[in-house]
Amino acid sequence: MGGYSFHTDNVRICVIMVGLPARGKSLIAQKIVRYLSWLSINAKCFNVGNYRRQEMAHPTADFFDAGNPEGERLRKIAAEAAIGDMFRWFEHEAGVVGILDATNTTRKRRDWILEICRARSVEPMFVESWCDDEDLIMHNIMDVKTTSPDYVGQDPEQAALDFRNRIRNYEKVYETITEPELTYVKLINVGSQVIINRIQSYLESRIVYYLMNLHIKPRCIWLSRHGESEFNLLGRIGGDSDISARGQEYSRQLPRLVKQSVGDRELTVWTSTLKRTAQTAKYLPYRQLTWKALDELDAGECDGMTYAEIEERFPEDYAARDNNKYEYRYRGGESYRDVVTRLEPIIMELERQENILIVTHQAVLRCIYAYFMNVRQDQSPWMEVPLHTLIKLEPKAYGTEVTRISADIPAVSTYREKGQSSRKK
Ligand code: SIN
Repeated sequence: MGGYSFHTDNVRICVIMVGLPARGKSLIAQKIVRYLSWLSINAKCFNVGNYRRQEMAHPTADFFDAGNPEGERLRKIAAEAAIGDMFRWFEHEAGVVGILDATNTTRKRRDWILEICRARSVEPMFVESWCDDEDLIMHNIMDVKTTSPDYVGQDPEQAALDFRNRIRNYEKVYETITEPELTYVKLINVGSQVIINRIQSYLESRIVYYLMNLHIKPRCIWLSRHGESEFNLLGRIGGDSDISARGQEYSRQLPRLVKQSVGDRELTVWTSTLKRTAQTAKYLPYRQLTWKALDELDAGECDGMTYAEIEERFPEDYAARDNNKYEYRYRGGESYRDVVTRLEPIIMELERQENILIVTHQAVLRCIYAYFMNVRQDQSPWMEVPLHTLIKLEPKAYGTEVTRISADIPAVSTYREKGQSSRKK
């Protein structure tokens, strides 16, 4: 974890989600985990529903009625199992931020969790999602009825009806957080209003800042590398070359490809300050913004060289990079970790925005993709991201859906496998 500016020594936080079903809690919980993991902070989500499903796979709404003692009993067992696993994870896997993803809608339930946290010296932090935006609730209900394991194989209309009844059962006992002595963040119609109370540690404040930038309205993000460049053709890295004839063909085809996927939705296009991204986005009929933070990983002294030249001239560096590509920093340049650090404001802004297309570079795109797809640091620098391909990311309640749309325009492959020598045999 070296190199990053977070100091989390001895800090352990239990983030306790609070809110009715269909308020985006799971999405928020998973986003916090993804964000922190991306920043090298050990975070994990413990979803009580997953534990409950081990006892009761497809419950009907009455299972969640507070007046149903068997339902109450099984739900308490599920919560105990989730909390038990979380505390084992804190102890044995150096957990830093554990998230208890459950409704936790009553004071009684929250008091019980508080007691456990205090006994184990873990800081409790509540994150409540309070929402009366009907469109958003409807969207979440639709999402749940088609993606929740609770309703697998069931008629979708029946599932939606049952899920609404489940929500009603929770509404009967819901108590919003008001206790002034608690550490909490209350998100009102996520993205509209945020109430914060007694935020204490640096890490808590980072989580709050992230949450303040979130919205959970349906939206998509599209990613594309720039069209094939003159440097790509020569096998050279970095630089600021123009796009090739095939790259230009991609830039001409891109508006059609984008329109097919985006439809009539509003879109903003972000590019880096390097010529090849602006040239690729040239024909896109949308608002465009340029970000220095989207520039390619700086290869320092190796900028403009081929991999074979790097291997010849700096064999130790070449091997060190293969050994740990995420941490390896080019002489006078950057590592993947450095790129992640400079991309943090981009991620924050992305969270605030709706539909965005980012036209950028291989390493930067890997880092952004890793954030959305929760890709491990030892894997993200090795991901294959082909040229002339549009990637669509669609955040859903239970993860992000990916669609790859190839423009079918040939391009060189800039992919180099781990351990592969670049010298000509
Ligand atoms: C569930 O069983 O799906 C969640 C239990 C809860 O958090 O109330």
